[in-house]
Amino acid sequence: MSDRHITRRIHGIDTADGAGVKLKRIIGQPGLDMLDPFLLLDEFRSDSADDYIAGFPEHPHRGFETVTYMLAGHMQHGDNHGNRGDLTPGSVQWMTAGRGILHSEMPQQENGLMWGFQLWVNLPAKDKMTAPRYQDIGPERIPVVHPAAGVEVKVIAGTLAGATGPVEGIVTAPVYLDIGLQPGAKFTLDLPVGHHGFAYVFDGESALVGGEQLRRSELGVLSEGEQLQLAGGDQPSRLLVVAGKPLNESVARYGPFVMNTPEQIHEAIADFRTGKF
Ligand code: CO
Repeated sequence: MSDRHITRRIHGIDTADGAGVKLKRIIGQPGLDMLDPFLLLDEFRSDSADDYIAGFPEHPHRGFETVTYMLAGHMQHGDNHGNRGDLTPGSVQWMTAGRGILHSEMPQQENGLMWGFQLWVNLPAKDKMTAPRYQDIGPERIPVVHPAAGVEVKVIAGTLAGATGPVEGIVTAPVYLDIGLQPGAKFTLDLPVGHHGFAYVFDGESALVGGEQLRRSELGVLSEGEQLQLAGGDQPSRLLVVAGKPLNESVARYGPFVMNTPEQIHEAIADFRTGKF
C-alpha cells in the first residue's frame, strides 16, 4: 500500500468577499489557484459581527458546486427559484449551481462566533448546464465514527468505518471528512486512488499528516497514493481531509462563473445580465 504525503504547503490569504465578509482564502489565490476539481476554499471565522454581518447578498453562480460547512453561527440561504435553507452549526449545504442560480447567504445572528468553510467543486463540461440542485443536510444526518482510539470523524461525503456520508450523486465522487484527533491518537485513512486531495488543520495547534507536522491554518496538498497516515499533535486538533476525482478539463473562470472556454464565460455574463438565471 502506498502512502500519501504532503507535496505543498499553502497558507491562506486574508481577504473579503460578499458585502465585506472577512475571510481566509486558501484555494483560489495566487499561492494555489486550484486543485482540480477544487476551485476555491474559504474559511470564515470571526466573533466580531462587523466582520460578517453584511453577509453575501444576491449573487450568481454557474458551472460548478458550492459547499458550505458551518461550524458555528447561523446563515439563511435563499435563491431566485424559491429555495430556502437554514444553515445551523454542524450543517452542510451542497449546492449544484449547474446552469445558474442567484442566491444570497445572510447571517441570522447579531453577535457571537461565525465559523465555517466554503468549498467550490468544479463540474465537468457535460454537467455544467445541469438543473440546479440542493442538498441541505442537518448535523443529525452526518454520521460520526471512531475508527481508532482518540479519533472522531464526521463523514460528510465518502465512506469510512462502515459509515457513508449523506451527500450523494456528486460527479467528482468527493470525500469530505471533519477529523478530530486527540494527542497520541493515530489511524490510517484510505482515500480513493487517483483522487486529488488536501488536508487543512482548523483547530488546535497541529496534526501529523503523512508523517509531517501540519500547523493550524496550513493546507497540505497530498500526493497520489492509497492511504494517509494521520496522528494527533501535542494538543487536540481538528482537520478537514477532502478529496475528489480530477476532471482534467480546461477551466475558464470569471468570478462566480466557471466554464471550459472564454466564449462560455461571455455567454454566462450575457445570460446573467438578461435575467436568464
Ligand atoms: Co454563493
